[in-house]
Amino acid sequence: MAAVQKPMVDEPIFGFARDYTAPQTTTDRSARKQKVVNAGAWADTRGAKPKPLDARFADVKKRLVKPAHYAALQASWHRLLQAIDERVNVIEAAGPDFIPTVEFAEITPQGQFPEGFARQARERGCCVVKNVVSETQARDWKAAMVDYCAQHPDIKGTPPAAPQIWKAYWTPAQVEARSHPAMLACQRAMSRLYHAGDEVDVDLDSQAMYADRFRVRPAGVENILPPHLDNGSIERWEDEAGYSSVFTAIWEGRWEDYDAWDMTHRADAVTDLYGGPGWLSLSNNGPNKGTIQLLPDIKLSTAYLLLRPFFTDDGQLDMESTYFYGADPGMGQVLSTAWHPHLQLDRSIVSIPNIAPGSYVFWHCDMVHKVEEKHEGSEDSSVAYIPVVPLCKYNIGNLVEQRKAFLAGNPPPDMPPLPEEGVESDHADRGRPEHILTAEGRRMLGLEAFDALADGLTPGQKRMRELANRELGF
Ligand SMILES: [Fe+2]
Repeated sequence: MAAVQKPMVDEPIFGFARDYTAPQTTTDRSARKQKVVNAGAWADTRGAKPKPLDARFADVKKRLVKPAHYAALQASWHRLLQAIDERVNVIEAAGPDFIPTVEFAEITPQGQFPEGFARQARERGCCVVKNVVSETQARDWKAAMVDYCAQHPDIKGTPPAAPQIWKAYWTPAQVEARSHPAMLACQRAMSRLYHAGDEVDVDLDSQAMYADRFRVRPAGVENILPPHLDNGSIERWEDEAGYSSVFTAIWEGRWEDYDAWDMTHRADAVTDLYGGPGWLSLSNNGPNKGTIQLLPDIKLSTAYLLLRPFFTDDGQLDMESTYFYGADPGMGQVLSTAWHPHLQLDRSIVSIPNIAPGSYVFWHCDMVHKVEEKHEGSEDSSVAYIPVVPLCKYNIGNLVEQRKAFLAGNPPPDMPPLPEEGVESDHADRGRPEHILTAEGRRMLGLEAFDALADGLTPGQKRMRELANRELGF
């Protein structure tokens, strides 16, 4: 078996599901969880070429790209490399300023970002919203989370010797932060970067809880986390009914037409549990302060990553080899300079701009990202992971289990504890329903019915709210 490089500390690795049947019920989802393996591990990126996958993956390539599209694909590859080259110059010149940033107060009364900003966020695949909550509020939450873990030494973290990511899911501060009205307003605006036809089974106005951890990375601590994507790896090619159909334009040699924000097929993609990962800043964060780095062009980076297995190193169409360049089954999608040379990762990946506690960072679930190796700031780099999770079938299944976990004080289903790790069920001071700040927060935790009779719902929205209510027993 190939050596596996494990990251010292990771941003969350989301949605590792190892089979490809979209779950319709919580029972299906529970069965699927049995297959969750190896989350947080990457293919070994040493060497000029990756280890080839099984021969059957050549058939996957042939299923995705038909002979009628070979010439178009070849031409599209050349256009793509040229476009990347030009864009990398722009990104490098702009640096962190290339990450679109907006004030929370600019979100419209209808719950959307200003149109110009939304366009930029869609193009780049990420955004920062400043002043979502006050600096005092964010620092108070952080102090409460840290104090909770100090009070409960059975709560462990990663890496074990000197934890940075704490495996606490239900502290009162986390429950408050997730249900804060301003956080929910942000999540709705972020969800609304996506779009869906009326009949698509998704409700972009409602959120489903996904409880995650928080991070406190001390100043001076180095970190090794390679460029990667959340949400699985090989599923982007192999999940025929769902994920791979998101990328039809790319498979047909029309990457310019690819829309990363179209929910039509994403709502059914098995690994696409989220609208997108995100975190609330609990400290000052920014360049050289040990923070996240993003490759801020979602269309070009996605097209390149997906087409890479179809081309030799000298740019010839290759329908036979099974090099998938960091998309090993059962592991996260990882990238490397040697395997993805045209992305020029050392120039195209930039840190987020300087932000204060209380700002919210969001990135598309197919976005290339990493963490700064060095932390040269003067305070710890701290964040609460709070992803954007619109209501769709998959997320409804998860919501039912999140509610169960919350009420019992257990880790959520994606985060099974190691034998030596304690859980929060016997912590009297853990978060309870009374810590939820809003009615919408209660809904996102499955404690209140969704309004399926609200005015203006699309048929797809209505179906999702009805399904959620049914699954939750309302
Ligand atoms: Fe990540």
